[in-house]
Amino acid sequence: MPTLTEKLALQGGAPAMTITPAERWQPPVEREIELVSRLIRERYLSAAGRGFAREFEDEFGAWLGVKHCASQNTGTSTLQAAYFAVGVGPGDEVLHPCYTWICSIAPAVHLGARPVFCEIDADTLVIDPADMERRITPRTRCISVVHLFGNPVDMDAIMDVARRHRIPVVEDCSHAHGATYDGRKVGTIGDVGCFSMQGTNPGGKAVSGGEGGMIVTNEDHLWERIMAYGHLNRKGLVDEYVSPEYRALGETGLGLKFRAHPLALAVAKVSFETLEWRNQRIAENRQRLAAAPERVTAITLVTSYAKAHMAGFYGGLKGIYQPERLGGLPVERFLAAVRAEGAPMNGRAYDLHHLLPLFARGFDLYGGGRGPLTGDYRGYRPGDLPVSEAVHPNIVSFPALIDPAPGYLEQYGAALEKVAAHYRELL
Ligand SMILES: Cc1ncc(COP(=O)(O)O)c(C=O)c1O
Repeated sequence: MPTLTEKLALQGGAPAMTITPAERWQPPVEREIELVSRLIRERYLSAAGRGFAREFEDEFGAWLGVKHCASQNTGTSTLQAAYFAVGVGPGDEVLHPCYTWICSIAPAVHLGARPVFCEIDADTLVIDPADMERRITPRTRCISVVHLFGNPVDMDAIMDVARRHRIPVVEDCSHAHGATYDGRKVGTIGDVGCFSMQGTNPGGKAVSGGEGGMIVTNEDHLWERIMAYGHLNRKGLVDEYVSPEYRALGETGLGLKFRAHPLALAVAKVSFETLEWRNQRIAENRQRLAAAPERVTAITLVTSYAKAHMAGFYGGLKGIYQPERLGGLPVERFLAAVRAEGAPMNGRAYDLHHLLPLFARGFDLYGGGRGPLTGDYRGYRPGDLPVSEAVHPNIVSFPALIDPAPGYLEQYGAALEKVAAHYRELL
């Protein structure tokens, strides 16, 4: 264990961390190969609504306790289908948290809707329901919430606003497979739930197959629109329609194809098999790591709402650096010192989207001055979302580990403690 009197690594001392690699958990590659090989032998390489793909959808839907579940090629396309399903179109506004990944937002913009950015809560980093309600106008067509980094949004408050204003809710659960709010899995509380399955474990989405997504709803009329939008030629498609005008569309529906590749689904299915176990391990290790930032007092871990239970943990564990506790030491300098000790820690993760050029200035999306980000689009300036802008620079990420090497978390805590003990030398 390093001593606190040791020089900082940034200043030529020995790094506090010596244990590597941090993660001992190995993905079940043999099981992936077995399933992928089976599907290749069966020539099951393009399928929807039948066989393995359908079984996995049914299993995922049953695990969530939801009536309808379909796989798609990306999480982004599930969001596009969700926005379409709830009726988002040209001239509409969609409420989004300003802090998320652009794929939560862009699909609605491409349907012709204008994004309206909302503040995040400075403790949970997810959308602030009170701020969101203030931004509702007669043109608001949808509330889009993101259970960011696995931390569930305050769904009681969101659903209360949604019901009072009769606005549908799309839940982006890309980071939060298995997270719950008041005992219900996220994705099943709003009108449509969307899950990305991008990346690979460990480190990718909690259920991941390279690329892929799952879209879920309990509402037959939304399901019909999801099916018609991106699932042409799906087996049994016409039977999924509940209204005559959709039946009349037949097997080609509305002509888009968002279905998933079966081989990606196979890898995702294997990932799904270990999800609950991995979620539990990461949650336990988060508790262990929580002792470290508290001890150094320079970082506050992101908190959850009383009824919320984090899971999924995409993007790592999040904390908020408190520079005033280390004499005003800038976050970049703190991060550099921590990293020099061999402790992985990143900052921010995502930009604030209202300040990205695309949304700050607007863009002539369709050409000729048409589209949601031109005309009377006012754009955004620094200072428009002061709460989010104040917390954003100090957001830091810790590794979300499943099976850390023995002593790793303790060394990690010691590295943070060492930097905190020496902060004056960094000022
Ligand atoms: C919050 C969020 N929403 C949506 C997506 C889009 O998912 P995909 O990459 O599967 O299209 C991502 C991807 O990282 C994401 O982080």
